[in-house]
Order: sequence, then C-alpha cells, then structure tokens
Amino acid sequence: SPFFSYRKGTLYAEGVSLAELGRALGTPLYVYSKAALAAAWSSYQEAIGAHRVLVCYGMKANSNLAVLKEFARLGSGFDIVSGGELARVLAAGADPAKVVFSGVGKQAWEMRAALEAGVKCFNVESVPELKRLSQVACEMSKTAAVSLRVNPDVDAQTHPYISTGLKENKFGIAIEEAPAAYQLAASLPGISVVGVDCHIGSQITEVAPYLDALDKLLKLIDQLTELGITLKHLDLGGGLGIRYDDETPLAPKVLLDKVFAQLKARGYDELELVLEPGRSLVGNAGVLLTTVQYLKHADARNFAIVDAAMNDLMRPALYEAWHGVLPVTPRSDSSALYDVVGPVCESADWLARARQLALHEGDILAIESAGAYGFVMAGNYNSRPRAAEVMVDGDKYYVVRQRETFADLIRGESFLP
Ligand code: LLP
Repeated sequence: SPFFSYRKGTLYAEGVSLAELGRALGTPLYVYSKAALAAAWSSYQEAIGAHRVLVCYGMKANSNLAVLKEFARLGSGFDIVSGGELARVLAAGADPAKVVFSGVGKQAWEMRAALEAGVKCFNVESVPELKRLSQVACEMSKTAAVSLRVNPDVDAQTHPYISTGLKENKFGIAIEEAPAAYQLAASLPGISVVGVDCHIGSQITEVAPYLDALDKLLKLIDQLTELGITLKHLDLGGGLGIRYDDETPLAPKVLLDKVFAQLKARGYDELELVLEPGRSLVGNAGVLLTTVQYLKHADARNFAIVDAAMNDLMRPALYEAWHGVLPVTPRSDSSALYDVVGPVCESADWLARARQLALHEGDILAIESAGAYGFVMAGNYNSRPRAAEVMVDGDKYYVVRQRETFADLIRGESFLP
C-alpha cells in the first residue's frame, strides 16, 4: 500500500521506519497510519458525492481514542454497541447526534446514558428491547429515536462467525415480523420511529447480498407506508471487505453506485442513507510489529516463535484468518517455510502458517491488515500485557496507547484478609 511501503530495503509507515519504531518502542506494537485512515474515509466520501449519507464508523473495529478523534475530525458519525463505546465516543469529542446505537443486549443503564447524550438513533433488535427502551425513555421524559434492525435473511457468503444476516443468527427481527414490530413501536410512548437498519455480515466482497437486503428493506418500507409509518433513514450496516490476501475488496463506489441507482428506481432517493463501515475504514491502516524470538526447525515444520500471540491478534486463532507477514528488513539469504507462532500455551496460538521467509532471531515482522479487530480483541491471557499502539502522521509518530505494565495487569486484584 502507499502507506506501508519499502524504502531502501526497509518497511516504512508513511515517513517512519518500522525497524526504528520497533526498536525504539519495543514489540508487539500496533502501528496505524493516519493518512491511510483519511484515504479510506475519502473513498467513502468520493463515492457518496452529493448524496445524503451519514457514515457511522463501526468503532468496534478499532476504538482507540486517537482513531476516533481522527474520524470525528473528518466528520464521521459512529456506530456504537455498548455503554463503553459511548463513553469513548464522548471522550473523543464526537457529536452524539451522529451516533447510532446497535447491539442485541442493550441494558437499561446503557439506554439511559445514550438518551442523556442524545444519540441519533437506537438500532433496536427485538420487541422486548423495544419495550424496555420505551419504559426507560418514559422514566426520563425523553423520546428515543428508533430504527428496527431487520434480519433480511440473505447469505453474505462470508465466514459463518461473521455472517449476521441469516435467519439462524441471533441478530435483528425477522423481516416477516417487522411490520407488526413497527406498529407496536409506533404505538409505544417515548418511542419515535425514524428508520430501518440491517447488517448482513462482515468481510463481504460481493455487491449482490447488499442489493438483495436493500430490496427487502425497500419492500418493507413500502408496506410500512401503507400502514401510515414513514421513515427518515435506511441504514445498510457495514461489512465491506478488504484485501488480506488476494481478495478483490468491495470498493465503496462499486456498492454505492448500485445502491443509489436502486433507491432512485424505487422512488426513495430522498431517504437518508446510513452506513456503518468498520473494517474497510481501518483494516489496512494498521500493522502489528513483532520480533522473532526463536527459530525452531522441527521434523514436520519450521516455527518462527515471535513475541506477539493470539492474545494480541486473535483473528487467526478464532477464524483461521489469513494475515500477510512482511519482514521489516528483508534478507536475501535462504528462506524456509515457517509457521509464525506466539508464546502462548495453546496450539491455536499461531499468526500465520506456511510462509516462505528468510529469518534470523531478532528480526522484526509486520503482520498486515491488523488495523481492524486487532487490538480491540486483545486480552491478557498468560498474563501478557497488551501491546502499545502508535499512530504515524507523515514522519512523526505518536504513542496513542501505552504498553500495559505488570501493575496494569493486577490492578483491582486483592488477597483475602
Ligand atoms: N454494524 C454492525 C451492527 C456490526 O455488527 C458490525 C460488525 C459493523 C457494523 C461493522 O462491520 P464491518 O464493516 O467491520 O464488517 N471480529 C470479526 C468481525 C466482526 C464484525 C462484527 N460486526 C473479524 O475480525 O473479522
């Protein structure tokens, strides 16, 4: 990518040498490129043009405050799924009027916090949730703007763990049941019906599932109009796929040109469109740096044991996800086929398998496409402090989250008297 590229034989993030960065700050280290975030944002804005679209960054993909701040500065809204994410968005100084609140298990305290903050909309996922929201809003003498998350039952053709739009998923209200749920919503005190939403899955590389979902949502809107319920916005969720290996990513323009055409053909071009992209805004804006500790040449396999592990980047262990591995300073000596594995006591603790690499102890590797669902899914298993995070801007870099210390690890723990 233009943001992570080799210069004179060594990998740079924008104008910063990753070898120097890794040595200066230690590894494992997440490194984000501010320019890459801005470029991903622009790819949406250019596709949107003069259309009325609110992009609500699906912040679960990467919720570091500095990342949120950059998107807020660019004018982004945010898709949140918890009270914690709301607190982050507010801490980053974002505009609550551009926040949509998704998630299947919103608790009363989270509803209260979001009503207090004045979010744009609650993406409600079930009838019981709708009832609780009505009750909470009434207690506060407020009105909650509501969109119902509809499950359009389309196959996003992605990994089963990240596919969310099929009937058997826990998400949303079945589309056949939606008209009745809308009628209930319209009748409940403290609720104002404003929209409809769906999110069919993640790492989607085809346009067709989106257009199928859109078609079903528009048919629902037709039905609602007959029932006297009018909506202000339609939220298509996130899910646009990026390139990890040889996938053809789904460019926002490719999708949105088709979406706008379909909206126009159906007479809905006045409807505000909301999008909730996460991965496609940040995934390829980050790498995870890790240092080779040991090379182990066993009969069956060669292992490169590195200092990053499944607790730092869970995607390979959880989804068998493929991430590119780049030596920060490539060598010309003989290479071997390596499994890149971490020090955690689990066979699932691998980051990459069967990669042809020329390695020595102490070499730094960059695990690619680690900007989305990387640090945010990190944990402390094996009492491993979480990695530091850095944002590069031109030839400057900023530590945007310090590496955890032992004191951080045991904070809040105590002995029995
Ligand atoms: N909106 C909703 C309601 C969502 O559930 C999600 C992601 C998004 C938006 C953003 O989707 P994106 O544009 O990032 O695909 N941990 C998995 C991905 C889980 C996605 C969960 N929902 C992974 O590492 O692949």
